[in-house]
Amino acid sequence: MLLIRNGYLLDPSAKEEGTADILIDDSGLIAGIRRHASAEDAPLPEVPASCTADAAGCIVIPGLVDTHSHFRDPGQTEKEDIVSGAAAAAAGGYTHVVMMANTRPCIDSTPVLQDVLARGRKTAIDVQSCACLTKDMAGRELTDMEQLAAAGASGFTDDGRPVMDAELLTRGLAKAAALRLPVSLHEEDPAFLHGSGVNAGSRAAKALSAGGADREAEISLVRRDLAIALRTGADLCIQHVSAAESVALIREARKRSPHIHAEATPHHFTLTEDAVLTKGALAKVNPPLRTERDREAILEGLADGTLDIIATDHAPHTKQQKALPFPEAPSGMIGLETAFSLGLRELVNKNILSLRQLVTLMTVNPAALYRLQAGKLQAGMPADLAVIDTGAHRTVSADFVSRSSNSPFIGESLPGIVRLTVFRGKIAYRA
Ligand code: DOR
Repeated sequence: MLLIRNGYLLDPSAKEEGTADILIDDSGLIAGIRRHASAEDAPLPEVPASCTADAAGCIVIPGLVDTHSHFRDPGQTEKEDIVSGAAAAAAGGYTHVVMMANTRPCIDSTPVLQDVLARGRKTAIDVQSCACLTKDMAGRELTDMEQLAAAGASGFTDDGRPVMDAELLTRGLAKAAALRLPVSLHEEDPAFLHGSGVNAGSRAAKALSAGGADREAEISLVRRDLAIALRTGADLCIQHVSAAESVALIREARKRSPHIHAEATPHHFTLTEDAVLTKGALAKVNPPLRTERDREAILEGLADGTLDIIATDHAPHTKQQKALPFPEAPSGMIGLETAFSLGLRELVNKNILSLRQLVTLMTVNPAALYRLQAGKLQAGMPADLAVIDTGAHRTVSADFVSRSSNSPFIGESLPGIVRLTVFRGKIAYRA
């Protein structure tokens, strides 16, 4: 039994928002909600003070949903594992995570998938996983998608690598459409990569004497894959969009089909290519951070619904690896513990999105695409929620719950402190 009192209830699936009390029963369901402004809502029963959490001054929202996290398990658990990744997610207000499949071995077979899902079930939140689209992520042969779907795959992806064979991708998308599962794609054609993780032609690329990743690497594949997806009717998600032209292509495709979706990451909507000049490899990501014009196009895409999902691309790497010379350092940054705060600072506080829209892009939309039961706070539903003090600030320290600390945001003051994350009625994180 848990009573969360006096929080500002913001459930994007409900019309009204406002101060409310939420009672959670011992089976982990929402037993009742009393909106203070509503004359109809019945009073909630008394509960002992020890079972009460005061959420005054905080928003109470559905637990956040991240559909793009790398937990490195199996194979690189010095960076993260399913337990530490789930704990980092809970600390960021997330109750649902879909893991990426580029582990070692990668998640291209049912035994590996079943193992990660079984270990995910032992964590304090809901941890699901994509499976690879192609065997060994080699882009030559499709995985046994039926079998992986039956074993519980949330979707299919070779994230980290593009699928270069258009015919193979067409078959994969057709199969995914029949299985009613999404495919998410990492769009970087190696033909246009003269080094990764930094925008080609940028001052940073010049300073590093690195060729960099040309924007055409992304644009050309986005163009091709939208056309294929429109033909097959599959649910396609273009991952971590970085270029203005990609946003424009996705905008047009979304007018033609409700099956096209796209992610913006907090780092692509916050930073530009110049971050590499000051943060070095901590700002090295694939696809790279690009120009201010690209960042603005991503903001426009978020505002008009073209980019309908905010996903972290939480990509932990060790200090030692990130300290390597730029060309050898791996790409990626962690994101679960800063994502909502960056959304507040860059999107809500700068009037790009309303708070309700931000919450929608971080709960309802990713949950719908990946068929997760999440994104709603109503009586009778599972009590999966986050209590966040949006008015409070914190300075990001290197002391993350994640096993890794590769974040370029260390030292910055960010709005939003997660006070409580509750999954199925149990406290998964408390500040
Ligand atoms: O920067 C990235 N790192 N982008 C990806 O798509 C993969 C990720 C990783 O696995 O480290």
